[in-house]
Amino acid sequence: MASRIEMQICLGSSCFSRGNKDVVMFIREYLRKNHLDDKIVFKGARCMGLCSHGPNMIINGTTFEGVTLSKIEAILEKELASLI
Ligand code: FES
Repeated sequence: MASRIEMQICLGSSCFSRGNKDVVMFIREYLRKNHLDDKIVFKGARCMGLCSHGPNMIINGTTFEGVTLSKIEAILEKELASLI
């Protein structure tokens, strides 16, 4: 069985103003569509100190900066490929 993947998205105010809410909604829908809800731990995080590069995420310990709606799908496809 594949190991669980942990994803965190920054919910700080700077990442919020850069669109993290849209990214959160996209991720939730993506996990639901691909039946990944029970294979992924997805949670919010406090400011990661990279505010000017947001929205920021950490996936299994790797930080992703500038995770906008236009980039998130490609990131998920690459990072979650082993689960799909
Ligand atoms: S608000 Fe997201 S890194 Fe600071």
